[in-house]
Amino acid sequence: MPSLKSFSLLLASALLAGAAPPLNGRSETGSLKAASWPTFQQCEGRETVIAKAANDAQILGKATKDYVASLKGPTPRYTTWFGNFTLARHATALNIYSTIHTNDYLGYTYICDCDLPGLPEDVVAYVYPYQHGMVHLCPEFFRRNTTGKNTQAGSILHEATHFSDNGATEDWVSGTDNSLKLAIDDPDKAINNAANYKYFAENVPFLN
Ligand SMILES: *[C@@H]1O[C@H](CO)[C@@H](O)[C@H](O)[C@H]1NC(C)=O
Ligand SMILES: *[C@@H]1O[C@H](CO)[C@@H](O)[C@H](O)[C@H]1NC(C)=O
Ligand SMILES: [Zn+2]
Repeated sequence: MPSLKSFSLLLASALLAGAAPPLNGRSETGSLKAASWPTFQQCEGRETVIAKAANDAQILGKATKDYVASLKGPTPRYTTWFGNFTLARHATALNIYSTIHTNDYLGYTYICDCDLPGLPEDVVAYVYPYQHGMVHLCPEFFRRNTTGKNTQAGSILHEATHFSDNGATEDWVSGTDNSLKLAIDDPDKAINNAANYKYFAENVPFLN
């Protein structure tokens, strides 16, 4: 699957789910705290880059949640990334954006290992959905931009939607074109697809 940019390891998560209780990497929820600082594993020299991305993800997520909460019907931005507007799908999106915003991304644990066998080379990041707040970052993450589209912050938001305690989203498709097409063809999947949450949040090019 060479085009896959990022995915959750559902098989691994299923094994973990049977072996151990879900991990709660954080004891607090709520808004960004000045005292927060991530836990890092194997990320020497990249801590501030990651923390900046985490902070940016918090800001991006807040703005997106507020936008989704304000919607009363379809908008170009909504329809582009989530397809035909229904109250049920809007409620799902609002629930997921609201829930991930209760997470403090500066309280997450970032693990710069990315050495799982079989991972495609262009994977940006991955999580085990039951390991809440633990995000594995791959070399491609550090090549991503800090603003615009396909950002580091967007990747963190994407991964956050995968956690079982958040949105339990899947990676049905990845990439802009596939995500746009999914919104048109299968909005029930788009509302459960992590990349669509990321692109909707980044909103590049800008749509109202
Ligand atoms: C970063 O942004 C520039 C300018 O928009 C773009 O050309 C480049 O492909 C981006 N890099 C990545 C890794 O997406
Ligand atoms: C979306 O709405 C349009 C217009 O009502 C309709 O033609 C189309 O079939 C709908 N798409 C899906 C996937 O339901
Ligand atoms: Zn993913």
